[in-house]
Amino acid sequence: SGRRPLVAGNWKMNGLRASIAVVEAVRNGLTPELGESTDVLICPPSTLIASCVAAAYGSPIAIGGQNLHAKPSGAFTGSISAEMLADLGASYVIVGHSERRAYHHETDDGVHAKALAARRAGLCGIICVGETKEEREEGRTLDIVRAQLAIGVPKGASARDTVIAYEPVWAIGTGLTPTPADIAEVHASLREMLGQLIGAEAQAVRILYGGSVKPSNARELMAVENVDGALVGGASLVAEDFLGIARAYL
Ligand code: G3H
Repeated sequence: SGRRPLVAGNWKMNGLRASIAVVEAVRNGLTPELGESTDVLICPPSTLIASCVAAAYGSPIAIGGQNLHAKPSGAFTGSISAEMLADLGASYVIVGHSERRAYHHETDDGVHAKALAARRAGLCGIICVGETKEEREEGRTLDIVRAQLAIGVPKGASARDTVIAYEPVWAIGTGLTPTPADIAEVHASLREMLGQLIGAEAQAVRILYGGSVKPSNARELMAVENVDGALVGGASLVAEDFLGIARAYL
């Protein structure tokens, strides 16, 4: 496809200072061959971004945020802007994760604003989409994810500033995954929708799969057409598991 795979770890609200050791272990396990074939990203909680950036310094490991506020600065107690993430040395930020949508009332319009903010600060935004179990059972998966994409992705988005992550809500942290055929159908539909939104550039944008990716299923899931990498939750907390997933493209 010409698209460079991206394997991204989302630590969610996990990790104290001792977890820097995970970054160090990933760094130690990252062979030149792996570093050359695959982009590796770790998104720790904000409290650990600076120390993870330091631990990854000089290695191919990128560090990213899990969320951001759309404004560059201001009276928004507790929030963190794209500029602040970039200032720490982050290069990516997750936008619109289903947990943000479910627990923090994030909307597609809010995702759009945050994706614009990420680009403004020079970050690559990982825009997350995905259907709930109920939506899948009602046969609405493609309608849901296409609408999330159509509203969330800013005009003029490019592969430099945008990654898409397809994460079925029912597959997150459950051990369940869609079949490769189901993933292929969604990713093809997302790629087609991206084409409507941004034209030929859609071919260069990476579309990740997320939801119960493990070393044992990574190779099968990553081999699906239009799957350009993984967004990994639980398994990214253990260096050997995360590396095992990252090696899926070797
Ligand atoms: O952002 C990561 C996803 O929510 C997947 O989480 O790998 O624990 O299922 P999981």
